[in-house]
Amino acid sequence: VIAAAGSGERLGAGGPKAFVELGGRPMLAWSLLAFGAAESIGEIVVAAPPGSEDRVGAIAIEANVEGRVTPGGDARSQSVGRALDLVDSDLVVVHDAARPLTQGSLVDEIVARLAGDTDLAGVVAAAPVTDTIKEASHARRVIRTPERDHLWAAQTPQAFRTDVLRAAIAQHPDLLGTVSDDAMLVERAGGEVLLHRTPSENLKVTTPLDLRIAEMLLADRDG
Ligand code: C5P
Repeated sequence: VIAAAGSGERLGAGGPKAFVELGGRPMLAWSLLAFGAAESIGEIVVAAPPGSEDRVGAIAIEANVEGRVTPGGDARSQSVGRALDLVDSDLVVVHDAARPLTQGSLVDEIVARLAGDTDLAGVVAAAPVTDTIKEASHARRVIRTPERDHLWAAQTPQAFRTDVLRAAIAQHPDLLGTVSDDAMLVERAGGEVLLHRTPSENLKVTTPLDLRIAEMLLADRDG
């Protein structure tokens, strides 16, 4: 499942982030190419910005990747939930189109770790945080400083047992507008989630600066 239905407001490109040009292609194309190259992936479902389903289909054809398209929802988890309705495999990988530098090999590693351990409900791409993280009130008064050694930044791809993720989404309709990753719902439902350390270039494109860095990393890859 590729979540690509966001509006991209923070990037300020005047349209959905998935369509912003990066390294000569729409950003979404890079995730499609990575998932197309992943041996563990059978079928791809993309949650598209509502009304842009045809455009997403055209990007998939241009990238020579087969994928089904569904309109996304108001919140990311709703987009993922809609795409999940079209999934019929036992395991599913959820990925944000906003992480265009993910490679197929990372997807395969994450799926292999989940498939190899029946105790796990999910395996999540993650990187140790390098900043010191503060928890603060709305007025920015610091409440506490958790020990950094135990803190990781959760990314995508995230692989799950499909039935567990579906049940977790159904169990918390109240949270769907606020959760920022799918693993959180699975954790709340009591599922065991493992972190899989990612290469540092698996960055998320949120701001214009991120876009420039992603351009440079993609140019390095080609060179
Ligand atoms: O907004 P943010 O950058 O956190 O979004 C992460 C990913 O979720 C993006 O790839 C975006 O396209 C996707 N998304 C979605 N449906 C929404 C909101 C975001 O598929 N309603």
